[in-house]
Amino acid sequence: MAPLQPLVTVNLGVRSYPVYIGNGIIFETGRLARDVGLRGQAAIITDETVDQFYGSALRESISQAGFKASLHRVPAGERSKSFAVLETLTESLARAAVDRQAFVVALGGGVIGDLAGLVAAIYRRGLPYIQVPTTVMAQVDSAVGGKTAINLAAGKNLVGSFHQPRLVVTDTSTPKTLGVREWNEGFAEIIKYGIICDPSLFEQLERSTPPLAELVKRCVEIKAGFVERDEQERSGERALLNFGHTVGHGLEAAAGYGTLLHGEAVSLGMRAAALISMRRAGLQTAEATRIQRLLERYSLPTRLTLNLPPSRILEKILSDKKFIGGKIRFVVIPRLGAAQVTDEVGKEDLEWAIASLAE
Ligand SMILES: NC(=O)c1ccc[n+]([C@@H]2O[C@H](COP(=O)([O-])OP(=O)(O)OC[C@H]3O[C@@H](n4cnc5c(N)ncnc54)[C@H](O)[C@@H]3O)[C@@H](O)[C@H]2O)c1
Ligand SMILES: [Zn+2]
Repeated sequence: MAPLQPLVTVNLGVRSYPVYIGNGIIFETGRLARDVGLRGQAAIITDETVDQFYGSALRESISQAGFKASLHRVPAGERSKSFAVLETLTESLARAAVDRQAFVVALGGGVIGDLAGLVAAIYRRGLPYIQVPTTVMAQVDSAVGGKTAINLAAGKNLVGSFHQPRLVVTDTSTPKTLGVREWNEGFAEIIKYGIICDPSLFEQLERSTPPLAELVKRCVEIKAGFVERDEQERSGERALLNFGHTVGHGLEAAAGYGTLLHGEAVSLGMRAAALISMRRAGLQTAEATRIQRLLERYSLPTRLTLNLPPSRILEKILSDKKFIGGKIRFVVIPRLGAAQVTDEVGKEDLEWAIASLAE
């Protein structure tokens, strides 16, 4: 068979890895894992829904490449990013005699990527892993960058590690089987890239929707750039990717994990961040309105219809983020296509923006 070319490479010195993007390439997973030098048995981690659709294709590809494999399934959804499921999973790997030569395969959306990545980071003090993302969200965002995590009641992603995958295999035909909500939520992150650094992507989405493979490539290139410049979010550069996430994560935790999908919460969070940007960074009202319209074009929520007291949302934000002298580090946009971190945002700005979401 003809060799596949990686479409994007994430350049991180010895931790560099290729991202393959294409229709039907899930069937090449085993061969690509061999190509990046993986040798031992494969521990496939997935959820029950994804397993039904793509489990057998993946297992076939892995075994055809000569790997022995074990399968470890968790319930679908955000609630699986928990200590309880992390424990069950690692016990399951141990029972299957997954050893230090093995590698982990994360087959699924962002929940599976974050969870399986964390398993790979800590099981037997660390195994290599590969990402096989199956949601729009995971393909354009979470499968790349090496952030792994589970949630605490106090807040999203509060326990985790940086652990880069060795390979990403993105089959852009797999999201076809997503539900409408799950498809749309992925566009929250695509729109986010447009807002923070790619105004032409933003304008393109205002006109029509490019094919998924094109969007994935563009977003992965953007994300790879941020990750290459600031792998562990130390300089503040990678933090710009958190635009909309302070309020978004607060909403996810306050509503109860899984009530709002991550992209839905980020959509609301981006509207709040746009409002705060009008107050604190000089964003024009017309541009804030364009952001709201584009989110609505992808059926993403911009109004909070859940019966959630603002104080509860704020409480989650306060337990997640450090407030120094009543101020928080917050990503704002002075205009479309530019983002920066500021220390000028206070509790009352957040209260006002959250209240505006409910109007
Ligand atoms: N690590 C990162 O950098 C990063 C970035 C963005 C988001 N995230 C995390 O990702 C998570 C959200 O990811 P998600 O939105 O992909 O959620 P998810 O993994 O829960 O997937 C959404 C739903 O779609 C189902 N599903 C997945 N693929 C399918 C397919 N091809 N066909 C049919 N159904 C399918 C799943 O079973 C699930 O029910 C959040 O926890 C978020 O914090 C992490
Ligand atoms: Zn996100």
